[in-house]
Amino acid sequence: MKVVKSIKEIKDILVSEREAGRTIGFVPTMGALHAGHISLVEQSVKDNDVTVVSIFVNPTQFNDKSDLLTYPRTLGQDCQLLEPVGCEYIFAPSEEEMYPQPDTRVFQLGRVAEVMEGAHRPGHFNGVAQVVSKLFDIVKPDNAYFGEKDFQQIAVIRAMVEQLHLPVHIIDCPILREPDGLAMSSRNIRLTPGQRQKASLIACTLKESTTFVPEKSIQEVIRFVIDTINHEPEMEVEYFQIVDGNTLEAITDWSDTAYPIGCITVFCGKVRLIDNIKYPSVK
Ligand code: PAF
Repeated sequence: MKVVKSIKEIKDILVSEREAGRTIGFVPTMGALHAGHISLVEQSVKDNDVTVVSIFVNPTQFNDKSDLLTYPRTLGQDCQLLEPVGCEYIFAPSEEEMYPQPDTRVFQLGRVAEVMEGAHRPGHFNGVAQVVSKLFDIVKPDNAYFGEKDFQQIAVIRAMVEQLHLPVHIIDCPILREPDGLAMSSRNIRLTPGQRQKASLIACTLKESTTFVPEKSIQEVIRFVIDTINHEPEMEVEYFQIVDGNTLEAITDWSDTAYPIGCITVFCGKVRLIDNIKYPSVK
């Protein structure tokens, strides 16, 4: 496994790999890797001849400065996790390497980028589109792997790939959960032990809410989820919406879509956690 910091070097290496007829799988990350990331890498290793993992804490997607400053950076540990699973190249550029000049591109990716996270984190998805489009241009992967915890991010990246006609397949992979149900996230290590214990309430409540379909209305299920979580001290729901999994538009009746999904963001103390759950289809 080789760690590469320069764009030119990783491009040259990957030109040779492609010339040798090898397919390239790519897992973009911001590091602080956990088993969820590793499952993406394992899928890429299965599907492709060569797997590249990028580790870059992208400043342009943070709308909150302190979130950027406190984002965990654990490159040494990340390399140790990636070595045994068959990753060939880690691309870990510096900020100067990725952004020698400020990236002023503004993407218009439509409603999927405007609702939910788009409304609560202005500029976030534009920053994601900036960095992922740059990374795709550098790595030119055949397949790129993303975790479904960031459900909306996958929809935004698909919209960008379509708009820019990029020749890459976007592959979504299931959320990995801790034994108590908490969705794996690099941010979980910022929870205090007490908050960590409480955080499992998010997944438990979402799971319980799936048993109410179709007897309870969308509004009743939303109320149940928000009230149950907000009842716990230190936990506060920022938003919870039940949307069509394709368009990400809020639905008002279970029969509005065959693909209902609940998307939630919760502050657990100061740590912002996201999760989602698929509801049974009644359409
Ligand atoms: O999901 C993430 O970790 C980031 O948003 C990504 C896709 C690596 C872009 O910085």
